[in-house]
Amino acid sequence: MSRQQFQNLCGRLSLPIVQAPMFLVSGPEMVIAAAQAGILGSFPTQNARTSEQLATWLDQIVDGCQGKPWAVNLIVHPTFKRRDADLEQILAHQPDLVITALGSPGHIVEAVHRAGSLVFADVINPTFARKAIDAGVDGLVLVCSGAGGHTGPLSPFAFVDAVREFWDGPIILGGGIASGRGINAATALGVDLAYLGTRFLASRESMVADDYKQMVIDSGVDDIVCSDAITGVNANWLRESLTKAGFDPDNMPKKSEMNVSASVDAKRWKDIWAAGQSVGPVKSLQSVQEIVNELDQQYQQSQSATASLAN
Ligand SMILES: Cc1cc2nc3c(=O)[nH]c(=O)nc-3n(C[C@H](O)[C@H](O)[C@H](O)COP(=O)(O)O)c2cc1C
Repeated sequence: MSRQQFQNLCGRLSLPIVQAPMFLVSGPEMVIAAAQAGILGSFPTQNARTSEQLATWLDQIVDGCQGKPWAVNLIVHPTFKRRDADLEQILAHQPDLVITALGSPGHIVEAVHRAGSLVFADVINPTFARKAIDAGVDGLVLVCSGAGGHTGPLSPFAFVDAVREFWDGPIILGGGIASGRGINAATALGVDLAYLGTRFLASRESMVADDYKQMVIDSGVDDIVCSDAITGVNANWLRESLTKAGFDPDNMPKKSEMNVSASVDAKRWKDIWAAGQSVGPVKSLQSVQEIVNELDQQYQQSQSATASLAN
């Protein structure tokens, strides 16, 4: 049943991509714009300052999406203080998809299913993938190396093959995808949807400061630094923002302690700016609709190129 439900969801998208959830970046405006552009938009609940504000945002999203699919991202680690209150709001608003992060989804799967939504867990290695499957998720988001924000260590080729040894259900693939070529490559790997965060960082609907958007536009793959010093787990950051915050990007300090509150500490993420290796294709400030149009055109070109190679 859940598989059919996911296939129905994918069938309602005009391009097989998710606008991935981004701390301090994606909110109702981006999610609604994504839905109107025909892709699946998402945001992390902690972007709303309180669970009460979250309820208002969710009302706005339900109104704005007008029946088109949308998704929400919830930190499920027990130390995330708002977990249960945010979950209550999510259940009341019935998103199509709940994407869990930082912890085991086991605690929420049943309740989300009862509300009629699907649960996908964001995972960075096969061990976490197995645990999520055991917890009863409907699908996996494989976050691979090069992803913006908290990143995985694995190549998408190796990770998809490893997971396909024990999981034939839905997969969303993320990390370094920011062009139609990348989306075509993801679908060629046999996954259902591609997961794009960085590509939407410098959109008009993004909630970050203009300086941050400009730095994304001006940066290339060489300007991305992976470090666990900021939140305790490996994440990709813009080199220049690390320098401005007083770090030496080539000699980052040793790992800080992993701590969920550091992952949702707006002060850390306000000055030190996350972005993935896929910054290169971000060349100007665009609306979500313009980005989706561009991706769609590139995707079709890439599919035609692949088809002509096969002939
Ligand atoms: C600025 C920024 C903030 C992010 N915040 C979150 C978050 O709050 N929750 C989450 O699950 N993933 C977060 N991510 C990761 C994205 O959801 C996604 O995994 C990643 O952007 C995919 O790789 P890409 O950036 O190469 O497209 C963030 C990524 C970025 C760039």
